Amino acid sequence: MIIGILGVGHLAASMLAGFLRSGLDPETILLSPRGKAAALATRHGFRLAAGNRDLVERADIVIVAVRPAQAPETVMGLPWREGQLVVSVCAGVPLSRLEVAPARAVRAMPFTASEIAASPTVYFPDLEQARAVLDRLGPAIALASEADFEVATVSAAVYGWAQDLIRKTAEWSSAEGLDPAIARRLTALTFVAAGRLIAEKGEPMDQMLEELVTPGGITERGLQVLSARSVPAAWEEACAAVLDKLTGRADARPR
Ligand SMILES: NC(=O)c1ccc[n+]([C@@H]2O[C@H](COP(=O)([O-])OP(=O)(O)OC[C@H]3O[C@@H](n4cnc5c(N)ncnc54)[C@H](OP(=O)(O)O)[C@@H]3O)[C@@H](O)[C@H]2O)c1
Repeated sequence: MIIGILGVGHLAASMLAGFLRSGLDPETILLSPRGKAAALATRHGFRLAAGNRDLVERADIVIVAVRPAQAPETVMGLPWREGQLVVSVCAGVPLSRLEVAPARAVRAMPFTASEIAASPTVYFPDLEQARAVLDRLGPAIALASEADFEVATVSAAVYGWAQDLIRKTAEWSSAEGLDPAIARRLTALTFVAAGRLIAEKGEPMDQMLEELVTPGGITERGLQVLSARSVPAAWEEACAAVLDKLTGRADARPR
């Protein structure tokens, strides 16, 4: 089984680190010859294709990780064949714009946490071969429709916002005197703890928060400030703006 990576940039490098970590033999991974490909091939022993046509001829699964605007043109006219699987990680590019028949196409949205096998990766449609590859990067989550996939892709942006909140909180803490290394570790692990508890428990989130937010306590005090500054509404607006951008509805909603 040869996995080809078409477009070896930032995200592909994270995925490749995850594949290595999961035990995949680097000789079973074939890279398109641009971006970080040559350097990664030299360092880790991945194979380098002569070009995109060569890559598609030799790979059983092709992960397409070029920029969204480049994706339709990049895959067009390549020698796709029956039985081959294409996994596009290109945000906002619908399956209908990827001309890869008779190969089958799946969309997936891995995060850079792929490199530590911690990416919750949504994908559609639910093909077993796709799940087997994506599960190497963290928990793969199958979706029921492409419309669901667009909504779920907003989480890829939320992942970045969460990192920004971690940075802001850590910087604020160290400006207040906390050791910067401790501030960074504590803030990051606070977000991990909040996410893991919700992911692993079945109780309704409203109930969990009600139990957490003591009347008159510190959590409530901060939520009052965030609410007075319309942060919850701004957060929802940001999610909607990302979805509009993904679906090309950017000008359709009155704001
Ligand atoms: N970054 C993330 O965290 C993230 C998360 C989820 C999904 N994604 C998706 O992943 C895709 C890649 O994002 P990125 O941040 O990794 O971008 P990137 O760093 O710009 O990587 C894109 C790579 O594709 C190469 N490329 C472009 N056209 C090519 C072609 N025709 N043949 C071979 N290689 C080609 C580019 O090479 P050159 O440098 O030579 O142009 C570049 O190395 C995007 O579609 C994005 O939506 C990214």
